[in-house]
Amino acid sequence: MKVLVIGSGGREHAIVWKLSQSKKVKKIFCAPGNSGIKEIAELVDVKPDDVPRLLDFAKNNKIDLTVVGPEAPLVKGIVDIFNENGLKAFGPFKDVAMLEGSKVFSKNVMEKFGLATADFKIFDNPNDAKKYLNEIGVPIVIKADGLAAGKGVIIPKTIEEGLKAIDSIMVERIFGDSGNKIILEDCLEGEEASMLVFTDGKTIVPLESSQDHKRIFDKDKGPNTGGMGAYSPAPVVTKDMLEEIIKNVFRPVVDGLKKEGKVYKGVLYAGLMITKNGPVVLEFNVRFGDPETQAILPRLRSDLADIMMACVDGTLDKIDVKWDESPCISVVCASKGYPDEYEKNKEIFGLEEAKKIKDVIVFHAGTKNENGKILTNGGRVLGVTSLGKDIRSAKLNAYKAIEHLKFEGMQYRKDIGNRAIKR
Ligand code: AMP
Ligand code: GLY
Repeated sequence: MKVLVIGSGGREHAIVWKLSQSKKVKKIFCAPGNSGIKEIAELVDVKPDDVPRLLDFAKNNKIDLTVVGPEAPLVKGIVDIFNENGLKAFGPFKDVAMLEGSKVFSKNVMEKFGLATADFKIFDNPNDAKKYLNEIGVPIVIKADGLAAGKGVIIPKTIEEGLKAIDSIMVERIFGDSGNKIILEDCLEGEEASMLVFTDGKTIVPLESSQDHKRIFDKDKGPNTGGMGAYSPAPVVTKDMLEEIIKNVFRPVVDGLKKEGKVYKGVLYAGLMITKNGPVVLEFNVRFGDPETQAILPRLRSDLADIMMACVDGTLDKIDVKWDESPCISVVCASKGYPDEYEKNKEIFGLEEAKKIKDVIVFHAGTKNENGKILTNGGRVLGVTSLGKDIRSAKLNAYKAIEHLKFEGMQYRKDIGNRAIKR
C-alpha cells in the first residue's frame, strides 16, 4: 500500500519510521517532511495546510492511506474532503476535530458528557473577562479559544499579568480570530500525563501512557514550549488509573459524540492532570502528541498501518495491539532562542555516531538537507530517543547519544526522565 504522511516534525518522523516497518507499506510519501524522513520516504514539497494540493497529490499518486500529523489540516476538514473524493485518511472529521480547534467546544463537550475538568467561564469580550479576573484573582488559567500554535494558554503570576494577557489575546488579537473568545478556568494541582487512544468510533485501544516536559529549562523553569522531551510509560498512570481514564474520559466522549451522530476516528489525546481526586482533563488534542509520539511508537510491536486502517474502516476490534515492556525516552535538542525567535541553518554534526549507539533512534524535527549537509531548520531540531530495560538506562543511553551531537546554540534539558526515576 502507498501512504502519504502529512507534517514535518519529530512526530511525523516517528510515524513514518514505524510505518516503514510494515510489510504492507510499499511506499511512503511525506509532505513536506524533513531530512531524517527523507532517508525513509519520498518528500513532497507541499505545506500541511494546503489541502487542495495534498488532495491532488493523493489522487494522482493513488495513495491508499493518508496520515495527518498536525492539527491545522484536521481542523480545516482534510479528512472530510479526502473522504468525499474516495480517499482514506487517518484522523478525525472536522466536526469532532473541533475538540482541539475550539477550547470552548471542548469544554462544553466535557461538561455535557460529565467529564472531570477545571471549573471555567467563557468570555466574548475583554471587559467582562477582566472584571471576573479582578474578582477571582490568581492563580487562574487563561486560554484562547482557537488554535494558537501551543501558545494560547497563560497562567499569570499576578492579576496585572493576567489583565495584560486578556488584552493581548482579545484586543491586540495576537492569535487573530482564535482570541474571539477566551476561557478563564481554575488552576489545578497535580502531576500531568498524556493519554492517547486509537479509536474507530466504537472500540477504544489505549496507547502506552507518557509524560511531556513543557518548559524550556530543567526543573520545569522558563517559558512553555511545544515539549522538550517525553518518556513512556508515565508511572503516575497505573493500571487502575488507566481503567478510570478510559471509563470516565474516553468512553463518555466517544460514545457521547456518536449518539450525536459524530463519529470520532483516529487518535484522541487527553492532556490530564492527575489530582488528589483522580484524573481531570486539561485539554483534548485530535492528533498524536509531539514529542510524546517519539517516546511511544518505538514501544509499539504491532503494525501501525494495520491499526490506522482499522481505525478508518471501523474494524479496530479485530486488531491486537501489542507493546514492548521496555520504557522509552526522547530528549529534544532545540535551537538557540527557542521557544522565542530562534536561529536556523546551523550545521548538525555527529548524527552518524549518535545513531550507531544500540537502542538509539534520532528523530529529526526542524532539519533540512542542503548540498549534502544537514542543517537546523526549526525550533525543535532533533528528538534523541532510546529504549532501555528501565527508564534510568533509557535516559543514560539517550544522553550518551546526545554527547555526539553538536550544532551551534544547541540547547536541551538534562532532566528528562528524572520524575519517573524518582518514583
Ligand atoms: P493545554 O494547551 O490546555 O494543554 O495547556 C498547556 C499547559 O497549561 C498544560 O500542559 C498545563 O501545564 C497547563 N494547564 C492548562 N490548563 C490548566 C489548569 N486548569 N490548571 C493548571 N495547569 C493548566
Ligand atoms: N506535547 C504536547 C502536544 O503535542 O500538544
